[in-house]
Amino acid sequence: MKCRVCRGKAVIDLPRHNASFCPSCFDSYLMDQVWKAIDEFRMFHKSERILIAVSGGKDSLALWDILNRLGYSTIGFHLDLGIGDYSRESTEKTRKFAVDRNLPLHVESLTQEVGASVDSIADLTNRPPCSACGVSKRHLFNRAAKTMDCHVVATGHNLDDEASRLLGNILHWQDGYLEKQNPALPDEGSLVRKVKPLNRLTEKEMAAYAFLKGIDYVVHECPMSVNAKQLFYKKIMNEIEQESPGTKQAFYFGFLDRRSHFYPEKDESTPSFLCRECQSPSYTEICTFCRIRLKVSLAGRDPDSGARS
Ligand code: AMP
Ligand code: FES
Ligand code: ZN
Repeated sequence: MKCRVCRGKAVIDLPRHNASFCPSCFDSYLMDQVWKAIDEFRMFHKSERILIAVSGGKDSLALWDILNRLGYSTIGFHLDLGIGDYSRESTEKTRKFAVDRNLPLHVESLTQEVGASVDSIADLTNRPPCSACGVSKRHLFNRAAKTMDCHVVATGHNLDDEASRLLGNILHWQDGYLEKQNPALPDEGSLVRKVKPLNRLTEKEMAAYAFLKGIDYVVHECPMSVNAKQLFYKKIMNEIEQESPGTKQAFYFGFLDRRSHFYPEKDESTPSFLCRECQSPSYTEICTFCRIRLKVSLAGRDPDSGARS
């Protein structure tokens, strides 16, 4: 197997591009894909400060590494979810990554912020763990970005994440989610801009990057992610890709090309309230995060308060 660019010994085969690459040409290819995503969606520029949400997994650690290499001003933000050994390992690997590279990292604890760990929150609020976790992450990423004067929040979502999410959203015609499925969501009031610079790169490519760069990351999936549907959609997309390389990107990029046609930009999508508790933009008087927090605190005061109903 020879590298398509330099004819040296290839180490990775990318059927979707009908190409193989040696480590050095793969690195150029990958950096180029990230650069294209940043440029195409005008995600951020060099004068802006980027908060990188770092989970301890391969994608977000690699993203931090890449943006740092590209010369962007970054600060890492890790949320300790309090999920036993999984969270301990995630926090430890994130801290070590930051210390080894002398990068600034801010760590917060979900248990401290909400008053309970993800599994207890799910139990007390009657929500699936991933839903309570997702709401909390979005809220706390945004708050951290504002507190630390960051212009934008970047996450490590990759092409596989986005294509499988698109499949799920289309299968259930989730118009609200489809409208928001964009690798760059602009600022809205006090909601900071959100971007996904890895949206052109697959899971396999990100794992190869992490391996080649010696990035030590958490390999296990979150034990709470019994969000089997998302994993199932990923599996289906991979089976299709196996039979017909290039379909995954054609599906997702095709959607992005047509997105504005199906979902034209609207002004009225900005939430009209400010949450009574935290002053974040909200569609209701109290935002979802604060409702979760209040329910947890009520349940803590009185176990029979009905918080489980
Ligand atoms: P996931 O939803 O777990 O696939 O994660 C998607 C992205 O969200 C990751 O690539 C990170 O950028 C971010 N993220 C997930 N979990 C955390 C966490 N505990 N702390 C900080 N960022 C996170
Ligand atoms: Fe949120 Fe697992 S990462 S519940
Ligand atoms: Zn609130």
